[in-house]
Amino acid sequence: MSFSVLGTGMYVPPNIVTNDDISKFVDTNDEWVMQRVGVKQRHFSINETTDEMGYKAALAALENSGVKAEEIDLILAASISGESISPSVSCMIQNRLGVSCMTMDVSAACAAFVFLLETAAGFFARGKAKKVLIVGAERLSRILDWEDRGTCVIFADGAGAVVLGEGDSYIDSIFDVRGGSDVIDIPQDIGKSPFYEGTQKKPFIHMAGQETFKFAVNAICHDTTKILERQGLSFEDIQYIVPHQANKRIIDFASVKLKLPQEKFYVNIERYGNTSSASIPIALDEMNRKGMLHKGDLLLLPAFGGGLASATCLLKW
Ligand code: UT7
Repeated sequence: MSFSVLGTGMYVPPNIVTNDDISKFVDTNDEWVMQRVGVKQRHFSINETTDEMGYKAALAALENSGVKAEEIDLILAASISGESISPSVSCMIQNRLGVSCMTMDVSAACAAFVFLLETAAGFFARGKAKKVLIVGAERLSRILDWEDRGTCVIFADGAGAVVLGEGDSYIDSIFDVRGGSDVIDIPQDIGKSPFYEGTQKKPFIHMAGQETFKFAVNAICHDTTKILERQGLSFEDIQYIVPHQANKRIIDFASVKLKLPQEKFYVNIERYGNTSSASIPIALDEMNRKGMLHKGDLLLLPAFGGGLASATCLLKW
């Protein structure tokens, strides 16, 4: 027993920011960002918190699934940009929904959505949950260095959610963690202890772009191929690859390396930027509402990012 997806939802704040808008803060331009990252516009929160956006995505997913908030046994959330370490984002979403189920956050940066699915699968397997709400919610604008043109043009705000029920749709998964802060680091404030002698690194996203890029392309190619091998399947059996939307060029490189047409990959980074843990559930919700997904379709969801961590799963719709 694992789970099936009962419904999807997403929320992005209404404030749309173009590359030209960002060029007022840092030395960049629309042509560079479109060519090197593939982002045209993104949404940035003006007054909504991470959990508020997560809550709105959750409401949309509940409505889409026909499941009532009171039926949810477990809320799993992921965020690297929540305003509070405690209460966690999942606690705050539970509070906003007015329910009393168990909640838990999982920290795995941009790969987190697949970590959340894996965690949910364990609860279903042990019969500990019949309905699970999963949310990836990010206000990355809060942790961006607005003087670093290498990151502030990439990341964005938004939330995606799915509602899961008992089923057999979570077929296989693969995880690779290479712990270390040398490639991606998002330090917290070191605090004011009179005893501590560490030095403060700016509490923003620090990213070695090219190392991350290589890790990401390798992760997509290796993980998807490995899962298909294990399952005795080929890419022809897969309707769509729905990757973490980190950079359009990462997806283009992977499609060339895997010798797959670009249409095999769902891409929406042009409109939303990189929303970390929210990017795959946002993509799934768009596909779902466009009627692109049919019962029995096989999807590969490759995710990768800070940790470094990568995680890919094979999911039957
Ligand atoms: O979701 C989590 C995982 N994150 C990712 O997967 C991100 C992976 N990495 C990337 O997406 C890319 O490496 C970046 C978009 C971050 C950077 O692209 P790049 O092609 O690797 O550029 P680069 O860092 O090698 O920089 C090339 C040039 C440099 O100028 P010089 O030194 O050649 O004169 C940069 O200063 O482009 C310059 N540059 C920019 N120019 C205009 C860097 N950022 C910008 C910018 N606008 N925003």
